[in-house]
Amino acid sequence: MFIHDCLGVNSAGHLTIGGCDTIELAAEFGTPAYIMDEATIRARCTAYRNTLRECFGEGSMAHYAGKALSMRRIYDIVGEEGLGIDVVSSGELYTALAAGFPVERICFHGNNKTDADIEYAVKNRVGRFAADNREELDAISRIAGKAGITQKIILRITPGIDPHTHKAITTGDIDSKFGSPIATGQAEEIVKYAISLPNIALCGLHCHIGSQIFDVQPFAGAARIMLKFIADMEAKTGWLADELDLGGGFGVRYVKEDKGIDIASAIRELAGVINAECTELGIQRPRIMLEPGRSIVADAGITLYTVGSVKTIPGFRTYVSVDGGMPDNPRYALYQSRYEAVIANRAAEPKTIHCTIAGRCCESGDLIGENMPLQETSRGDILAVFVTGAYNYSMASNYNRLTRPPIIMVKDGKSYTAVRRESFEDLTRNDL
Ligand code: LLP
Repeated sequence: MFIHDCLGVNSAGHLTIGGCDTIELAAEFGTPAYIMDEATIRARCTAYRNTLRECFGEGSMAHYAGKALSMRRIYDIVGEEGLGIDVVSSGELYTALAAGFPVERICFHGNNKTDADIEYAVKNRVGRFAADNREELDAISRIAGKAGITQKIILRITPGIDPHTHKAITTGDIDSKFGSPIATGQAEEIVKYAISLPNIALCGLHCHIGSQIFDVQPFAGAARIMLKFIADMEAKTGWLADELDLGGGFGVRYVKEDKGIDIASAIRELAGVINAECTELGIQRPRIMLEPGRSIVADAGITLYTVGSVKTIPGFRTYVSVDGGMPDNPRYALYQSRYEAVIANRAAEPKTIHCTIAGRCCESGDLIGENMPLQETSRGDILAVFVTGAYNYSMASNYNRLTRPPIIMVKDGKSYTAVRRESFEDLTRNDL
């Protein structure tokens, strides 16, 4: 009935997730609430871990990109599943450390790490930095030197690949705030510069071409370009890349029309391309890293809201207003992202209306979606929006002084709170 395995409908006609009745969850935890299925997250981790191992052996691994969803519990889960993580701020690093995540499996990313970020990460002996630019290399070298260590780094390179996704989430193109382009010669310069610096060990290269990508081709194209560049650098400098990180970006199915990408088959296809290219170039295959965020957590999550009003403007449209909106899910406002939704207490009934789902903020752009098929609904119904596990909680705000929803995890028919609902005291905690 649904495109996501963790969802179902029970004998009461209620939507279920991970074997739990969503109406009971809404009654127990209130709305809005993010609900996440632990088994789905673990299954995605397993697919990455096992397929990378099968294709590339030990040492190749996935680093979960915490920007998709950062909270202590997710770091416990991905850590137990044997993945590494990518953090992009001291705040994400702090959260991972608070969860006891193994530091050697942490890579610190971002295009503008401050000295304070670098000092904090070096002090905590973070495994790697993905260094972006010269200024950052200087700072890492200086701070690592002061700490008396040699800091492992990888370098962010832009291969010049356009993955045909939304332009706000394309990052591997030449004109990008991230990394050094190969085409302009800046990548070669920065590799040589990194090798020349003290207190830094350059272990490999990194690229990330974009997000929500369904085709293997752009990844294969990026891998080919990066491997050629690795071979070129080896010939010119004698430096051997031990590691090639191809970033994240595997897409997920938000709506039926999205074609999806199967993690295991995509990695296998990519491995074929990488192995052939290494043979052709006569280089030793580096360890291969991936950095999935969305494809680990997105379809494990749904958001539950309570319907407040239903307003039909004749000749125009029907607005269904809910008790959350852009503060808990800014993705429609930012990217016109599409979602599917159901009235959770009537999940077995056919969808007979098309509506605009509106949030409760004082802003007309505060929508969850437009022209969405839905069951007939009225005040008090529970609305479930699917595939909200990634880039929802992590991008949430307190706009209009709304409190951020809790994250409730479900597992085998049982539920537990991973993040509690913010309180009014939380809202004023920093007000002096
Ligand atoms: N690695 C790097 C360096 C990244 O910049 C990203 C995402 C990832 C990995 C993970 O990519 P994923 O597997 O999640 O596609 N807020 C946007 C998505 C921004 C993605 C930014 N970078 C959204 O809601 O669609």
